[in-house]
Amino acid sequence: MKTETTIQSLNAALSPARLARKTIGFVPTMGNLHQGHLNLVREAKKLCDVVVVSIFVNPIQFGPNEDFDNYPRTLEADSQLLAEVGCDVLFAPSVQQMYGDLPRRTAVVVGEITEVLCGRSRAGHFDGVATVVTKLFHIVQPDTAFFGQKDWQQLAVIRQMTRDLSFPIDIVGVPIARAEDGLALSSRNGYLTDLQRKVAPKIYQSLTDAEKALRKKTQLAEVLASIEANLTKAGFEIDYVEALTPDLEAVNVFDRDIVLFIAAKLGNTRLIDNLLVKFA
Ligand code: PAF
Repeated sequence: MKTETTIQSLNAALSPARLARKTIGFVPTMGNLHQGHLNLVREAKKLCDVVVVSIFVNPIQFGPNEDFDNYPRTLEADSQLLAEVGCDVLFAPSVQQMYGDLPRRTAVVVGEITEVLCGRSRAGHFDGVATVVTKLFHIVQPDTAFFGQKDWQQLAVIRQMTRDLSFPIDIVGVPIARAEDGLALSSRNGYLTDLQRKVAPKIYQSLTDAEKALRKKTQLAEVLASIEANLTKAGFEIDYVEALTPDLEAVNVFDRDIVLFIAAKLGNTRLIDNLLVKFA
């Protein structure tokens, strides 16, 4: 596996593949890799000739009170994992390489769907994500890019942006990787204390319980209220418990697919999860 830290050296590394018209698969990450990320790489390996993974902790997607400075940076361990799953090129640029010295005056802002769910409590977060992913798409020029469904809203934002800006890139969503007890894998799980880690799977349990209740025709509002009550009782501080369509529209027809979304804090750690409930 090659590791490149500049745009110029990445271009040089990818040039033979581009000339030979090989397909390039791209997995953007912020590092601290777990099985969820590695599943994205495995999927990319299946569909593309050459796989590029980026590791870049993007400062402009973190709010002033978020964990940018403390975000786990584990480049050496990540490189080893990526080499083991057959990543071809790791792109690990510095903040200077990505944003330079001059003020940044351009941002990619994706409307409405960035204002619901996480967008309400993380002002500017999705503008930061859309902007950096746009830059990375221009730099890597992939044929296909892979994103986890754990960040369902992020995936929807990227799909929308890719369509709106006519990027010639296929976007593939990869199912959530879970620990044996159901907890969705996330770099932030590492912040949990032992006790919090034992409580955290209740998020997924409440999603699967909610699905069962919906299939028994329990009213949606009742199901959402019960998730909120149970998680609050278990010690979570709820950010949102909501149901939307897969495209993040309001749910107004109840026999169509819906996605149940939860964001909740355990101590200082904010966890998110979701479950697609198929009715079709
Ligand atoms: O999901 C992430 O890790 C980040 O939001 C992404 C897509 C790599 C952009 O920084």
